[in-house]
Amino acid sequence: MNVCPADATFPTNFVWGAAAASYQIEGGAHEDGKGLSVWDVFCRKPGAVWHGHSGDVACDHYHRWREDVALMQEMGLHAYRLSISWPRVMPQGTGAVNPQGLAFYDRLVDALLAANVTPYVTLFHWDYPYELYCQGGWLNSASPAWFADYATVVVNALSDRVHHWLTLNEPQVLVNLGHSLGLHAPGDRLDSAQVLRVMVHVLLAHGKAVQAIRAAARGPSAVGYAASPKLCLPASLDPADVEAARQSTFNCGTPRFSGDLGQGTWYEDLVFLKQPPAGLVDFDEAGGPAIGPHDLDLIGQPLDFFAFNLYTAPSVRAGSDGQPEQVPYPAGHPMNALHWPLTPDALYWGALFLWERYHLPIFVTENGLANLDWIARDGRVHDPQRIDYTARCLLGLRRAIAEGVDVRGYFHWSLMDNFEWAEGYKQRFGLLYVDYPTQKRTLKDSAYWYRDVIASNGGMLDA
Ligand code: FCB
Repeated sequence: MNVCPADATFPTNFVWGAAAASYQIEGGAHEDGKGLSVWDVFCRKPGAVWHGHSGDVACDHYHRWREDVALMQEMGLHAYRLSISWPRVMPQGTGAVNPQGLAFYDRLVDALLAANVTPYVTLFHWDYPYELYCQGGWLNSASPAWFADYATVVVNALSDRVHHWLTLNEPQVLVNLGHSLGLHAPGDRLDSAQVLRVMVHVLLAHGKAVQAIRAAARGPSAVGYAASPKLCLPASLDPADVEAARQSTFNCGTPRFSGDLGQGTWYEDLVFLKQPPAGLVDFDEAGGPAIGPHDLDLIGQPLDFFAFNLYTAPSVRAGSDGQPEQVPYPAGHPMNALHWPLTPDALYWGALFLWERYHLPIFVTENGLANLDWIARDGRVHDPQRIDYTARCLLGLRRAIAEGVDVRGYFHWSLMDNFEWAEGYKQRFGLLYVDYPTQKRTLKDSAYWYRDVIASNGGMLDA
């Protein structure tokens, strides 16, 4: 598809960035007073993570941040999406602040600004303080207040220089993989009533954090959260298929089956529309806690943009009864190293559908390709698949912009190869290649290519 008008361009102030997250790159897991996170503990569980890998050292960004910022500058990144490790800043999760932990982010932010790279800070990208987990974690009704207190500490420290905030990363992945399916930390398999309790607390925590940011910010602040919607692609341009894809993008199943909680609309509608999606009628029946008008107000605190992460999407058509049905991809359909089907048009359709429904400026906060890169005999890393795939995604995004969707920025996942959660270090997502034994960084071909994309504000995509 990807038919983009020839004269389409990215807006002049378009933000070109890259993203990473604390546990996936920092290492320094037991240094300078940092507390344990649930990921530190989960990685020790036999069989939980591929080959027993952990983020203990990861990319050693905790020590190599100067070099990493210099590489960002070399690529010409406008912005870098980082996340803060809650237990590094507050080892017990609440109460005492660890000055050395906070100082790390303080220095990092200063270095980014000195390199002309704008920090976009995610407060929570899944590395939850283990001490709080021992007190019930997200099941505890005090958990939203714990998060708000932590948010206040970070905002007090950084908001004189940080003006872009994301409260949470992909809450439904945290809830579903971490608390229902047990595939991510903390590795719990709660019953549906408890999973719904976790979900509501996570959403309340988001709302309280938005309030905390607005109250404590010492400068202008734009606030959002990084959603992970279940975007669907129309199997053809037939309007019936387009409508089927639109509907299944937002349809919610019943919460009785915990798998359905992976559907981002549960979260997005509550946060952005202040109303439950249709599937929530079964919420009480499934044992979910009551969501009163006061809770809805808190969850639906006004946000400044809609941010989403996108890697793959199912293809959907209108079935013979008019209902949406999924169309399996044919044998041999391209896929990434995680075996996720490649669907670059999803960025076009995703931006369009999300704009239609939520009508807020859009940021793509993650998009990229898992690959099995290596250093070639010439010492370079040739990753033409990543370049081709990313170019297709960006052309889709540009098409959405040409059709009037207000897209403000794109963050490639990831700045560097890193710890891919339960997959360990098996696949590589980075623009920078990381040789883990030596921690040597090498700019991949895609990093040089992205540098040129940025320098031409996307113009070289037509080359
Ligand atoms: C997203 C996560 C991110 C990374 C990518 C591949 O769901 O937010 O940390 O693991 O997937």
